[in-house]
Amino acid sequence: MTEVNQDIDLSLYINQSAIQDLGPVIEGVQVWGPVTNQAFRKTFLEWYDKESRRLPWRESKDPYRIWVSEIMLQQTRVETVIDYYARFLSAFPTIKDLAEAKEDQLLKVWEGLGYYSRVRNMQVAAQQIMNDYDGIFPDNLADIKKLKGIGPYTAGAIGSIAFNIPVPAIDGNAMRVIARLFMINADIQKPANRKIFEAVGQYLVDPDRPGDFNQAIMDLGSSFETPKKAMPELSPLRDYTLATLTGTTDTYPIKSKKAKAKPVYYQALILQNAKGQVLIEKRTQHKLLNNLWTAPLIELGTKANQDLPITEKLDFLLAESKQNYGISPIFMRKEIGQVKHVFTHLIWHIQLAYGQLTGEDEQRINMLIASGEEDYAWVAPHQFEDYAFPTVQMKVWQAYENYQEMQKNK
Ligand code: ADE
Repeated sequence: MTEVNQDIDLSLYINQSAIQDLGPVIEGVQVWGPVTNQAFRKTFLEWYDKESRRLPWRESKDPYRIWVSEIMLQQTRVETVIDYYARFLSAFPTIKDLAEAKEDQLLKVWEGLGYYSRVRNMQVAAQQIMNDYDGIFPDNLADIKKLKGIGPYTAGAIGSIAFNIPVPAIDGNAMRVIARLFMINADIQKPANRKIFEAVGQYLVDPDRPGDFNQAIMDLGSSFETPKKAMPELSPLRDYTLATLTGTTDTYPIKSKKAKAKPVYYQALILQNAKGQVLIEKRTQHKLLNNLWTAPLIELGTKANQDLPITEKLDFLLAESKQNYGISPIFMRKEIGQVKHVFTHLIWHIQLAYGQLTGEDEQRINMLIASGEEDYAWVAPHQFEDYAFPTVQMKVWQAYENYQEMQKNK
């Protein structure tokens, strides 16, 4: 017997709601029958036709454009994506342009969006399309899923929106909407439970307008069925949604607690040369923010080290500067600012140390750079166009600028 994954007996609601008939049990979820399913799709798509958000990627069925939007939207809010989307497409108007782009240019266009592996994977996938599909985006689900960085959600979104393939697109939003529809109590944090939502989604999706249906779910998930402060009474699906009918919206979806993000402590070195330029370093061989530029970062180990008296900390910074870069900057005897940045699994706590690098030390770095060492550079403040900086570094620049402003006003 399959497990029951639902907190209610749906049959009790027949004719007490918009639910008129009983359907199959799918992965332990009793769903409504075909009569209700037709009426449900009709209600939902009529709402979408009237109320859908007008978004730039909805103006086209070009799979390349849909793909770019879906990758950007994976971890990023719609409002943020809109500008990046336009800039990305003018920088790389075709799959070929993306496949042939230089990595630096790619990262520069993505600068600040985060989760940079998304754009690296997109470039690999663009190269796959050039090599394996003559530059034409594949039009079937099996091939779409072979592309680097395209998982079941993105394949479903592109397949349904660009090619009208009748499949669901199940991300966190869709799981929330579906969990509330049927009071599904499976933990959405567990990857193994995805198949429950995929199977129910497959049953629900409109076979004639799958792309619009999936985007209607997205719109519902960002309007009346948000994670917090939902307004289920205003939803076009209120009479179909068991959680609304029972007043349990906030109970669904069931979500186990995530592991807490781990703190990491750094000193960022703001090192200035005689010309007033600042040293930056390209991160290489890192999992996080690889090939992006930051001020030199020195890890401090524990919070206790961050709280050490300044003299001890400077000793440590000097030793690390010598060991890592062969230099002995003249450090200021106090921190000039701090920055906190939250990643998915890590929180960076950064203190800014300011130092000057002149004479032999400056020469040393200049020689490194002149010898073709590409992982260091001097930048003048406000001349940042040539380098891709992650958001955390933009915060470091901001903290540095705040400090300079304060000094001026003293
Ligand atoms: N989130 C993910 N895909 C989306 C889309 N096509 N429209 C709006 N929000 C989305």
